Amino acid sequence: MGRLADKNIPITGGNSGIGLAAAQAFASEGARVAVKLEHVTRTYRRDAFEVRALDDVSLTIPTRGFVAIMGPSGSGKTTLLNLVAGIDHATSGSVVVGAEEITTMNDRALAAWRARHIGLVFQFYNLLPVLTAFENVDLPLLLTHLRKPERKTHVESALQAVGLADRMDHYPRQLSGGQEQRVAIARAIVTDPTILVADEPTGDLDAKAAEDILLLLTELNRQFHTTIVMVTHDPRAERFVDTVYRLDKGVFIGSEKGGMSATPRVPLQPAE
Ligand SMILES: Nc1ncnc2c1ncn2[C@@H]1O[C@H](COP(=O)(O)OP(=O)(O)O)[C@@H](O)[C@H]1O
Ligand SMILES: [Mg+2]
Repeated sequence: MGRLADKNIPITGGNSGIGLAAAQAFASEGARVAVKLEHVTRTYRRDAFEVRALDDVSLTIPTRGFVAIMGPSGSGKTTLLNLVAGIDHATSGSVVVGAEEITTMNDRALAAWRARHIGLVFQFYNLLPVLTAFENVDLPLLLTHLRKPERKTHVESALQAVGLADRMDHYPRQLSGGQEQRVAIARAIVTDPTILVADEPTGDLDAKAAEDILLLLTELNRQFHTTIVMVTHDPRAERFVDTVYRLDKGVFIGSEKGGMSATPRVPLQPAE
């Protein structure tokens, strides 16, 4: 446990309990697979019609992987991500995340599971404007039993990991889009989740900021071994990830290697 803690950044306090279940799960047989979907279908009913957002999708995502889910608009990317994140239920099929079958969990169990295992990053950051960067990152820790001084250590470590140690007291409006997304990423990793799930994290950023965010995700993946599942339709992302999974009209049409394996490691960029 404590992938960030491994690097002397105590994101997970020694016996805080955060991430413990994930660590135990990974110690068992499913250790090398972070996500396993088997024959997953998700349909939505729209008036008299049935929309098949995902159609019999089977795939696995390795632990410690950094993968991109790509495909045209409407191909089911967000639907897939929401199933992995336990935000939505499959209509049929099996979704196993971190060795736990989440398809059969009730909403309450799923919410608790999600808080423990999933870090979420969205296209539009979803920061609370009335809270500082520090307070935004502290939010998910309010759901844990950590006390204030411990939370402070975790929050500072997370903000440091995204290169924003000097912006803790800034409000979202005082930050650039790229910096806001960094805060959102810090908020997503502060609980040391099993999987970081990001839906179009660079979708609202200019080219430079988008590249910085992709580099940051690459570094979090490499340094802290965070498994990252990212939905994107940004072709620039292909070069940063290990594997690209392609969806088309709800069908998984295959995966291919990303480009980062062919390029040298890039050091973590300081915040702008
Ligand atoms: N809540 C919903 N109700 C009805 N249809 C939906 C809903 N969410 C997604 N869909 C439909 O499912 C398909 C896949 O959507 P989505 O997963 O959002 O695609 P993507 O993220 O690749 O753009 C689309 O046809 C979309 O209109
Ligand atoms: Mg989408």
